[in-house]
Amino acid sequence: KQLGLVGVPVSKGQKKDGTEKGPASLRDGGLVERLTDIGCDVKDYGDADFGEVNEDQCYDNVKNPRSVAQGTLKTADMVEQALRTEGHCLAIGGDHSMAIGTIMGHARVNPDMAVLWIDAHADINTPLTSDSGNIHGMPLSFLAKELDQYVPHMPGGWEDIQACISVEQIAWIGLRDVDPGERKIIEKYDMNAFSMQEVDRYGIREVLEKAIKAVDPDGDKPIHVSFDVDAMDPAHTPSTGTPVSGGLSVREMSYIAEEVADTGRLAMVDVAEVNPNLGSKQDVDNTVKSAIDIAARFFGNRRQGLCPPDYDIP
Ligand code: ARG
Ligand code: MN
Ligand code: MN
Ligand code: MN
Repeated sequence: KQLGLVGVPVSKGQKKDGTEKGPASLRDGGLVERLTDIGCDVKDYGDADFGEVNEDQCYDNVKNPRSVAQGTLKTADMVEQALRTEGHCLAIGGDHSMAIGTIMGHARVNPDMAVLWIDAHADINTPLTSDSGNIHGMPLSFLAKELDQYVPHMPGGWEDIQACISVEQIAWIGLRDVDPGERKIIEKYDMNAFSMQEVDRYGIREVLEKAIKAVDPDGDKPIHVSFDVDAMDPAHTPSTGTPVSGGLSVREMSYIAEEVADTGRLAMVDVAEVNPNLGSKQDVDNTVKSAIDIAARFFGNRRQGLCPPDYDIP
């Protein structure tokens, strides 16, 4: 399988330094080798250039709007190119504001994509519902056309960032920290939100089936997975900026990745919110390992094992 790799070294979507080193930590952790070992033909497009913006004043409550917009536009171009050339793309972040660019770029190629947003958080605050002002908690509000009416038009590159998907194209799995404004949006648009309560009630098998059915009823859509590592329990991914206890287990997350891979329709995966500045060395190693394990499962590694086509019993 041909796969384009795009690094998105953004950290200005939230307040903790370190996620800009996420792409390097995943590459240094052996991501490309792992993907190559399972038969992927990986082309590394390098990192999107986030540059430097001086005087990046807040827009109302919103922090670093220009820096994020600038990098988002670069990210979108790189993702578009990677998808057009390789057919599949893995984007490694970076805080979750990275997904504004990855989904924008993906939508230029597959506007009808289904988005599985795997996260403890809904990340659909508008600039006006957000308490923190952190853009990593807002990406879906910029991407969903129905919410355009609630999103102030910000300067500094945001003119070129247009909502490109509909609320019906989005399903969440793993939610357990949702803000009041986000909950209101979910209810108002009857969105497909599967919290950890549903995971507990139905089990991951049924939740995943429901989520995929909701966004891809006929089973013919390209799939975009936006995987925030804080979806998993902090036991497995401790080095992340907004950990929330009670998350997905390695088994639940592995199951999601294997089943989505099995659809044959997975076009793109984001891996967001790895922060190598947080926690001990052991914490960072565990986080990087979990992220790489799951990324590899999305692109063909399975628990049942793999055997190269030309291998015979010696
Ligand atoms: N809901 C909170 C906020 O808007 C937390 C968002 C966390 N997002 C993330 N991508 N980790 O600030
Ligand atoms: Mn999150
Ligand atoms: Mn608009
Ligand atoms: Mn997130």
